[in-house]
Amino acid sequence: MSTTFQLDTATSRANPTPAPMKRLTIPAIRQRKVDGVTAEPVVMLTAYTARQAQLLDAHCDLLLVGDSLGQVIYGLPSSVPVTLDMMAAHGAAVVRGSYHAAVVVDMPFGAYEASPQQAFESASRLLKETGCAAVKLEGGAAMAETVAFLTARGIPAMGHVGLTPQAVNVLGGYNARGRSEAEAQKIVADAQALDAAGAFAIVVEGVVEPIAIAVTQAVKCPTIGIGASAQCDGQVLVTEDMLGMFERVPRFVKRYEAIAETISGAAERYAAEVRARTFPGVEQTYQPR
Ligand code: KIV
Repeated sequence: MSTTFQLDTATSRANPTPAPMKRLTIPAIRQRKVDGVTAEPVVMLTAYTARQAQLLDAHCDLLLVGDSLGQVIYGLPSSVPVTLDMMAAHGAAVVRGSYHAAVVVDMPFGAYEASPQQAFESASRLLKETGCAAVKLEGGAAMAETVAFLTARGIPAMGHVGLTPQAVNVLGGYNARGRSEAEAQKIVADAQALDAAGAFAIVVEGVVEPIAIAVTQAVKCPTIGIGASAQCDGQVLVTEDMLGMFERVPRFVKRYEAIAETISGAAERYAAEVRARTFPGVEQTYQPR
């Protein structure tokens, strides 16, 4: 699929005019998995800005406006301080920048855990203000009632089990989960509870591979792995991680580019030209007619 947009530069460089296309729907994603088999794996990447969404959209089934934007965009130490305002602003930008993938917005810590009613208020705000198709929330069986409540009221919900970064203060770090028998059983039971509650898909993050496979076999909805297994029904990565934006990344990240070097190299060349007064050149300056 082409990623070339016709830019209407008369208005803004950020407003492409793509060919009309029907967006993927959440039921279409859910129905990818039939009788435990997903013939076409679900492709998901994170996106936080309109331009990033434009570039990723054609290649993805789902764009996730992850609360990982706390660290990636805002330089926060974890996703715990991320607010609903941040998610709403970035969610709206990603929806504006996409027209093919279904957009899922993360519910930030503190915006949904207190009650299903609190979750509905936060999630309905995200749907109204961003135009996203669904929300994601972390937690297993404890969130099943909330997932059922949202789904019954018109808000598709994606679950998230295993390593749940918003719970870092309880977990004590970001290590892979499911190494003990008790923990492994809890992760599978968490996923089953979310599945039974109507989650349309479940992110399985940072778990040992046999548990990721067990979860995938135990639930009817698609699982989306990150640090999990290629046998999950789909995969997600933080886009900046796979682009090589950061030096330190978890071992499950595969770098498909070295964007940090590209950006820093461009800035180095620009700085040298400014200091040498060779930028701007003739091509970049206006002369009297
Ligand atoms: O916040 C996020 O980006 C996520 C993905 C890593 C699954 O939850």
